[in-house]
Formats: sequence, C-alpha cells, structure tokens
Amino acid sequence: MKTLKVGMIGYKFMGKTHSNAWRQVDKFFPVSAKPELDTICGRDKNGVTNAAKQYGWSRASTRWQDVIANPEIDIIDINTANDTHAEIAIAAAKAGKHVLCEKPLARTVAEAAAMLEAVKKAGVVHMVCHNYRRIPAIALAKKMITSGDLGRIYHYRARYLQDWIIDPEFPLVWRLRGKIAGSGANGDINAHIIDLGRYLVGEFSAVCGLLKTFIKQRPLPESKTKMGRVTVDDAVITLGKFKNGALACLEASRFAAGRKNHIQIEINGSKGSLVFDFEDMNRLKYFNRDDAADRQGYRDIIVTEAVHPYVGAWWPPGHIIGYEHTFVHTIFDFIEAVVKGKSVQPTFADGWQNQKVLEAVEKSSKQGRWIKL
Ligand SMILES: NC(=O)c1ccc[n+]([C@@H]2O[C@H](COP(=O)([O-])OP(=O)(O)OC[C@H]3O[C@@H](n4cnc5c(N)ncnc54)[C@H](O)[C@@H]3O)[C@@H](O)[C@H]2O)c1
Repeated sequence: MKTLKVGMIGYKFMGKTHSNAWRQVDKFFPVSAKPELDTICGRDKNGVTNAAKQYGWSRASTRWQDVIANPEIDIIDINTANDTHAEIAIAAAKAGKHVLCEKPLARTVAEAAAMLEAVKKAGVVHMVCHNYRRIPAIALAKKMITSGDLGRIYHYRARYLQDWIIDPEFPLVWRLRGKIAGSGANGDINAHIIDLGRYLVGEFSAVCGLLKTFIKQRPLPESKTKMGRVTVDDAVITLGKFKNGALACLEASRFAAGRKNHIQIEINGSKGSLVFDFEDMNRLKYFNRDDAADRQGYRDIIVTEAVHPYVGAWWPPGHIIGYEHTFVHTIFDFIEAVVKGKSVQPTFADGWQNQKVLEAVEKSSKQGRWIKL
C-alpha cells in the first residue's frame, strides 16, 4: 500500500491528539495510503525526544525548517501556537507539502489570506482542523439540514464555555498574549462555533460583537512576582445574521465557572429543531413538527449506528465514542483527499472566511456597531 510520511510541528495538547489519530486511522478506516509517523518537532530537545518515543514517531527535530526541507515528507501537520501557523504553512506549501493546520488558521485575516494564496499556488491539499465538524452527531445534523428536514432555518444558537482562567492568579500563558494568540476566547473557541454555524447554516452577512477582558493583569509564568498585561478578550458575545436570513446568537467565554469544555448548539427551523450537547456527544435531539400532535416531543437519536457518519468504522451500535475519534475522522478524510488530489472541507478558504468573521466581531465591539461581511 502507498505510504505518506508525516512531519508534525508542535507536540503538546494538539500534538498528542493528532499523533493518536495518525496512529489509529489505518487500524479502523479503509485508508488509501498508510500514514508513517516520521518526524515530530518542538523547540525543547528533551521534550520532543520524549514525545517521539511516547507517541510513536520515528524521529524528533527541534527545527521545523528541517522537517519541511526533508524531501521524503509528504504532509506537514501544524499543532503549534497561533503565531507560527502562517510562517510554517507557507513554507510547507512552497516545499510542495500537503498541509493540515490547527485552528484558528491564523491571527489575522491578512495572515490567513497569505496562507490560502500559498497553498493554492502550490496546488497542495489544505485543511483546517475544525474537528467538531466530524463528530458523528454534527455530521448527521449537517445531513439532515442539507436534506431539508429542518426546512427554512430561523435560529442558530451556540455557546462554547470554559473556566480555566477564572482564577486571577492563573499566569499569562501564550493564549492570553495577543501577539502570539491573535485573540482570546474569540479565536480560540468562538472560532469553533462560528465554523459550525458556517458549516450547518451558511455564511454570515453581518455581526455585532461584544468582547470583554475581565482580568487585565496576570502573573508572568517566568516570574510569579511580576505582572503582565492581558492583551486578549476573556469572553465574547456575538449576534449575527446569515445570508439566508437565519439569526445567530453565540457566546464564548473562559469565565463560566463549572463549564470545562461546554459546547451546546440549538438550531430551529420551520419544520423542526436540532439540539447538540458536546458533553453528550453521541446524541442528537430532533424535534419534528410533522409528528402526530399527541406524540410531539424531542426524540433522542443515539448516533452510534453503522448508517451514521464515521460510526461504522468503530464499534457495534450503542458503544459510544469520544473526543479523540473526531481527530481520527478528520485525518481519515485528509488522507483520502491527499491520495485522490481532492479538496477537503474545511479548507484554508474556510479558515480565511472564519477569520473574517472573527475580525468583524472584534471590530464591531471596538466601534460599537454592526459590521457587514
Ligand atoms: N481543534 C481543537 O479543538 C483545538 C484544541 C486546542 C488547541 N487547538 C489549537 O492547536 C494549536 C496548539 O494548541 P495546544 O493546545 O496544543 O498548545 P500547547 O501550548 O499545548 O502546545 C503548543 C506547541 O507548539 C510548540 N511550538 C510553539 N512554537 C513553536 C516553534 N516555533 N517551533 C516548534 N514548535 C513550536 C510548543 O513547543 C508546543 O509543543 C493552537 O493553534 C490552538 O488554537 C485546537
């Protein structure tokens, strides 16, 4: 079987999820090429060497430029902090590598546009890792909406809530520094529910945003006694209009005590509604207005049947799957696109579009007005 050599940049949280997916994918899915976990890269020699051993990579490198310069590498998988996405992706595309990049695609619209231009010019396959699109329940929701089960869509209501920085003593990590992260809750988690809105409902035509930084100074990680300025948002609320006339109401916060990685989505259409809750990710709730009047109510679809998207590759019905599987699904589709030379959603064009919405939300908050897209 054909093989594809992978070079992965960044080895912490996302590096671990993607390593697992590269390792698992051909054990479960009918891949057209077998991925080889060739080189993993990070700046700390000991750290990356240990990661290579633990996650099953053949080699470790401390310079991403060397990984890209290796003519044997087919795919570059970017799992680094946001300030490096553009530089690495553009260099990878120029070297003719197919690129999978973590979200948000970039820090700014300008960076995202340059990345899109580079991959298009090089003719390589490109994908942004919005892995939540490939939760089977979300993929089923997409199928139902596309086939008209919900009729005309009126509302997209979504929230993505966490609480990991609610403690004012939590240090000023890279995600709280604008120069590295680009933005806070907006690019980190609002980006996901904006992506799901674009995927499930359609393109935004205008947004009205409200960003807030509750804690403005935090201890520096390198020196607990010194404080540094938080240069990103802690929470963001978005009202939006879709081109198809639907309305969006989004909330993303890292200050929602008790919420760890809480994603809830409700979509209301003329024929019915769908409700999804990530903490119960194998379930999709469906309300059908055509049900007999005396039987109406939300029905629970346990999305674990072989007929459901991606599920047949895993376990018998009712044997649920989890977070890590969404990355395996993403990487399976990416491999198939690379082998067949096809485009695979969400592309860098989606990442660029997403970035335009994020920037419009920020601009709206600063200027106190609606921004058209
Ligand atoms: N898809 C998702 O749901 C999801 C979840 C978490 C994070 N992310 C995204 O994944 C990316 C990484 O986030 P994370 O949580 O893994 O962060 P992390 O802090 O856990 O890891 C960042 C990694 O980047 C590496 N890195 C930074 N600069 C580098 C450089 N110049 N050269 C080589 N390596 C470098 C670090 O060594 C580290 O391994 C971010 O863009 C983040 O937004 C996506």
